[in-house]
Amino acid sequence: MKKIVAFGASSSTKSINKRFSVYASNQFDGVDKLILDLNDFEMPIYSEDKENEFGIPEEALKFYNILKESDGIIISFAEHNGSYTVAFKNIFDWISRIDKIVWWNKPMLLLSTSDGIRGAVSVLEMAHQRILLNISLIFQRFLYLVFQKTSMTVREY
Ligand SMILES: Cc1cc2nc3c(=O)[nH]c(=O)nc-3n(C[C@H](O)[C@H](O)[C@H](O)COP(=O)(O)O)c2cc1C
Repeated sequence: MKKIVAFGASSSTKSINKRFSVYASNQFDGVDKLILDLNDFEMPIYSEDKENEFGIPEEALKFYNILKESDGIIISFAEHNGSYTVAFKNIFDWISRIDKIVWWNKPMLLLSTSDGIRGAVSVLEMAHQRILLNISLIFQRFLYLVFQKTSMTVREY
């Protein structure tokens, strides 16, 4: 069975992005779903000095392997000051040091939601440019469906 990993890129225990990623993953039938909580992967703030001295933290390796073994990844990004949350960026920085490849061109669904005035547009744009090199057609169609169902504004790329 195909495996989908989903998480909110936020460390808030009340994360609306985590809820959104769970909602999105629940639209898939017949797949294994694994929901991650970034709080289970707390690790030191990335620095080259720490990497040289202590290597890659266990939590980063674990997170990386979970993503690598998945068939698709759903991320809903919280926006903090126009950017990724520290919690996500820290994990991203660490896992980017393992093989220098992170997303393996897997099918990905990138989402974001916010009660902020700009509605998390910046972080989604950033993630789209940075992460999403080729979104599969299936996920694009799915994305459209989710937004239709929830009557949210779709920002098209
Ligand atoms: C430090 C901080 C900075 C924020 N900056 C933004 C922002 O730049 N744009 C935005 O749309 N929302 C911003 N917000 C609002 C968050 O997007 C909102 O709190 C949202 O619930 C965060 O997602 P989460 O619940 O998944 O953590 C900010 C919130 C915090 C705490």
